[in-house]
Amino acid sequence: DASDTEKGTYPHFMLKEIDEQPIVMRKIIREYQNGDNQIKLDKDIRKAMQDTDRVYIIAAGTSYHAGLVGKEFMEKLANIPVEVHVASEFSYNMPLLSEKPLFVFISQSGETADSRSVLVKIKELGHPALTITNVPGSTLSREADYTLHLHAGPEIAVASTKAYTAQIAVLAILAVDTAQAKDLTLDFDPLQELALVANAMEVLTDQKEEVEQLTRDYLATTRNAFFIGRSADYHVSLEGALKLKEISYIQAEGFAGGELKHGTIALIEEGTPVVALATQKNVNYSIRGNVQEVVARGANALVISMKGLEQDGDAFVLPKVHELLTPLVSVVPLQLLAYYAALHRDCDVDKPRNLAKSVTVE
Ligand code: AGP
Repeated sequence: DASDTEKGTYPHFMLKEIDEQPIVMRKIIREYQNGDNQIKLDKDIRKAMQDTDRVYIIAAGTSYHAGLVGKEFMEKLANIPVEVHVASEFSYNMPLLSEKPLFVFISQSGETADSRSVLVKIKELGHPALTITNVPGSTLSREADYTLHLHAGPEIAVASTKAYTAQIAVLAILAVDTAQAKDLTLDFDPLQELALVANAMEVLTDQKEEVEQLTRDYLATTRNAFFIGRSADYHVSLEGALKLKEISYIQAEGFAGGELKHGTIALIEEGTPVVALATQKNVNYSIRGNVQEVVARGANALVISMKGLEQDGDAFVLPKVHELLTPLVSVVPLQLLAYYAALHRDCDVDKPRNLAKSVTVE
């Protein structure tokens, strides 16, 4: 669809693509649903997932961050051990493989050279591969045995947004389909929960002014920023930091809340912005402790919590969604923070310096 690749009334593709996320969630639900509201997925992929004793997720950048979330789904829901690897490192430090490995390549473009070189290597070893991509005709898709399509529509901005949330949604569907194939009982219907996520995303994309104000309050003049979270929130912190650094050039790092005291807390000074995510019930108490620790050292803490876990002073409260799917909503204000930080600094939002949309060199 030609209009997908036009900005329309939007000033930037990134903002358009952030806004498209609820639409993409609904599209994924439609594409992966049969007439009985059950998951519809390629039988061969189902079989490959059933047959493997360990999944190796290979990806780069934002797709790697989606893989970290996907690992949690596959382990918790489908009971399959998963390793997630940065593509460029995999070849040097190839782990000892299990007996029946399945390689899952996550790539928006399907053209990332680092991932392709792993695919070539594991194909030589005779292992099966599944590519999860937004571009079904892409190299990684053609060269793998199986493909799952993200259905996110063309993503033009260099900073990946809707592909990340689409990857997580498709990984949740894949994990649940595998669990069903293995006759595991679950009280989690990803299609239904994703519909609620789509609604929550719509609420969030309507809160742009609030997030823009937070950007002014917390990130206006800073040279650095930290993102912290525990459990699933840790993975989203990594993504929030990557978004901010790649388009606004603010030096940003994501950390596991518990790791702060092992070094990073030394960097906290008067006024250092720390974005803390608090969407997970079982670690809410601990992440709040981390917030107190950084505030005591002068940090400007911007807490983004989930409805039901919020406390006085939180800067932003997310609508409630299923606990496994919180990354799909917590990332939205982080994408918007990065967007407005880049905009206020007059950065080229859609085409940041030194970066290409798909990295086709190793
Ligand atoms: C994301 O904002 C980045 N621009 C980048 O990290 C990207 O996710 C990475 O290069 C992987 O690309 P792919 O998903 O097309 O393989």
